[in-house]
Amino acid sequence: MANPSTKKRVLSGMRSTGKLHLGNYVGALENWVRMQDENDCFFFIADWHALTTDYADTSRLKENSIEVLLDWLAAGLNPAKCVMFIQSHIPAHAELHLLLSMITPLGWLERVPTYKEQKENIKEKDLGTYGFLGYPVLQSADILIYKADVVPVGEDQVAHVELTREIARRFNGFYAGKRKYVFPEPAALLTPAPRLPGTDGRKMSKSYGNAVMLTDPEPVVRQKLKTMVTDPRRIKRTDRGDPDACPVGDLHKIFSTKETMAKVYEGCRSAGIGCIECKNWVADTIVKILNPMQERRKKYEDNPRLAWDILEAGSARARDIAGATMQEVRESMGLDYSPNDDAEKDSRQ
Ligand code: TRP
Ligand code: SF4
Repeated sequence: MANPSTKKRVLSGMRSTGKLHLGNYVGALENWVRMQDENDCFFFIADWHALTTDYADTSRLKENSIEVLLDWLAAGLNPAKCVMFIQSHIPAHAELHLLLSMITPLGWLERVPTYKEQKENIKEKDLGTYGFLGYPVLQSADILIYKADVVPVGEDQVAHVELTREIARRFNGFYAGKRKYVFPEPAALLTPAPRLPGTDGRKMSKSYGNAVMLTDPEPVVRQKLKTMVTDPRRIKRTDRGDPDACPVGDLHKIFSTKETMAKVYEGCRSAGIGCIECKNWVADTIVKILNPMQERRKKYEDNPRLAWDILEAGSARARDIAGATMQEVRESMGLDYSPNDDAEKDSRQ
């Protein structure tokens, strides 16, 4: 049986990239927080995955991991409702990664879209490494070792879940023997993430320096929004604008109420409001979302041990499940060299 409880097992991970921003919240975290109520949820910090690109300088690895955890807790992931853990504390992921790598054709990996894209786009690092090519195999191990039913991910990760399904099928084909299967095929759950613009109008991203961080205090949020680009045709206060052609308008669509949205459309198109006023409204809304998060975060910032304890307890729980799966994997692959009766007697002498 894949998962004895009637709840769906949900698993997802985030690379340990440090503090999270609003884009991470609406693109993933908000959805995770919602899912933890109804499902058997596992969320983990993919610190080994961070190493596939940031292998040369690991000085911030630990700090980046804890920052992610603090933002998760701040956003409302609750250790009473979901399991939070860190990849590197579950060595079985590495064992399964190795075994899956034996059966994964190179062509499958070379065809993964993120592989080609990132190798071409990230020029400042040498991504011609074994680990980087194998990234999706490690991700498959992350997913299969918990026999996840559902993997909530963004669009860019759907191909990785698809590959996971193919690897599961191939594994089952070779080794399931009399069982129906060892690994159930997980389904990707595409998180409907609106494209969140950053202050420069490009997609919000930490590396562009255009992001509103979940930890930004109110004055910083307001200052960042003040500098945000607007409808380029609205230069003077008396020019009419169009929220549909404005990144601030896009933020309103994601965060603001219908009423505010109506005021924005009306005021912008008639030049009845100024951009400063309009930006203040969206800042109000964002501050309202961030305030309770920052309040929750304080408790853990003041006492980081609390957060580590949550991560350690989650990791212990994850290790149990991963260990049971690996036992099954070893058995199905003929790797369970458990001593026979004679050998057992010998060892007792
Ligand atoms: N590759 C994912 C990302 O960059 C992170 C990740 C690693 C993941 N392992 C996973 C996501 C397993 C879902 C399931 O966002
Ligand atoms: Fe953009 Fe608002 Fe200015 Fe219109 S009023 S251009 S929506 S910032």
